[in-house]
Amino acid sequence: MKVRAALLEEFGRPLVVTELDLAAPGPGEVLVRLAACGVCHTDMYTASGADPSGYAPTVLGHEGAGVVEGVGEGVKDLVRGDHVVTLFSPQCRECIHCLSPRTNLCLAIREQQNKGYLPDGTTRLSLAGEPVRHFMGTSTFAECTVMPEIALARVSPEAPFDRACLFACGLSTGLGAAMFTAEVREGATCVVFGAGMVGLGAVAGCRLRGAERIICVDLSDERLELARRQGATECWRADGHAVERALEATGGFGADYTFEATGLVSVMREALEAARMGWGLCTVCGVAGKGETLDVVPRLLITGRRVCGSSFGGVKGRDQVPELVELYLRGDLDVDPFISHRMPLEEVNRAFELMEAQDGIRSVLELSG
Ligand SMILES: NC(=O)c1ccc[n+]([C@@H]2O[C@H](COP(=O)([O-])OP(=O)(O)OC[C@H]3O[C@@H](n4cnc5c(N)ncnc54)[C@H](O)[C@@H]3O)[C@@H](O)[C@H]2O)c1
Ligand SMILES: [Zn+2]
Ligand SMILES: [Zn+2]
Repeated sequence: MKVRAALLEEFGRPLVVTELDLAAPGPGEVLVRLAACGVCHTDMYTASGADPSGYAPTVLGHEGAGVVEGVGEGVKDLVRGDHVVTLFSPQCRECIHCLSPRTNLCLAIREQQNKGYLPDGTTRLSLAGEPVRHFMGTSTFAECTVMPEIALARVSPEAPFDRACLFACGLSTGLGAAMFTAEVREGATCVVFGAGMVGLGAVAGCRLRGAERIICVDLSDERLELARRQGATECWRADGHAVERALEATGGFGADYTFEATGLVSVMREALEAARMGWGLCTVCGVAGKGETLDVVPRLLITGRRVCGSSFGGVKGRDQVPELVELYLRGDLDVDPFISHRMPLEEVNRAFELMEAQDGIRSVLELSG
């Protein structure tokens, strides 16, 4: 079939919205008609050419929501008409990691996915007979995509697509970091560094876990206001003194849980230093630049602070994304303030410009449906 999609032809150039060929889903694959897709930093990062593992030509996009339009042979859990959220972090439910409650890092299709292929090592996307690769296994800047069944979470049809798509990446990452990776305890004191989509999700996750104090640190007053609406009890402008302030605010000890959601190694260090001696847990969500390292004074660790990373918030996508969407449907989570702009696929490059200008949290592309 023919589909309109935003193609990355060449790094550093605007995406080109054009018509591509999309082949029918193969065994274990699903054809999804996309209705909405968020535009994320990772898309822009890859488009810029700064990511050394990036490839082109490819169709970017990984925060999709839509409807199952067709299924390939052997697809067990999805049928035509199901509402789904795309997962760049799949869940096969069979590999050693999926069988363990300790991690969400499914091993089933990693290698091919990282190279831009579907699990069988080929692509369904093509242009004039030449293969076009699948970005993050998702390629959701398009009217339709073909994806492995294990990379789709079935969600309630009651969730509007523009809200549901937010759960495909940053929001679930932040929520999950607090709820599943750190497992924040009731009554805890938390400090969240960064109030983008991930940090705001972490603030909401801390609140949902019953934290008593949730301090959010960011450079932007506007974003701190959003954090307040998600449950932050104190908001601090980042001024280089956040660690001292966190220690002062906790009787010299530090916070029970800290979260880094900026991608800056200097802030990761601050987050560790703001964690409490004895048991403070620092959860790193940000993706640092290639080659950057985290500088830690080992004494901080000996005295009981711990640091851990969190990919997609530790969320096991097919099981837990639907549960997170339910939080929204029940009214426990207000996601509307995260959608700052809505636009058609044709304006995807404008979404990148808005992101660069830090104008709003998420632009959502309104696709078909
Ligand atoms: N672990 C994962 O699976 C995963 C998933 C999605 C995104 N990420 C990463 O998480 C990070 C955050 O993503 P995002 O979409 O929220 O980004 P974002 O750019 O929207 O938000 C980052 C925020 O950090 C703030 N900031 C900058 N310097 C600061 C400082 N010194 N102190 C406090 N705050 C500061 C900025 O003002 C901004 O609001 C990125 O590195 C992104 O790549 C990771
Ligand atoms: Zn993303
Ligand atoms: Zn698996």
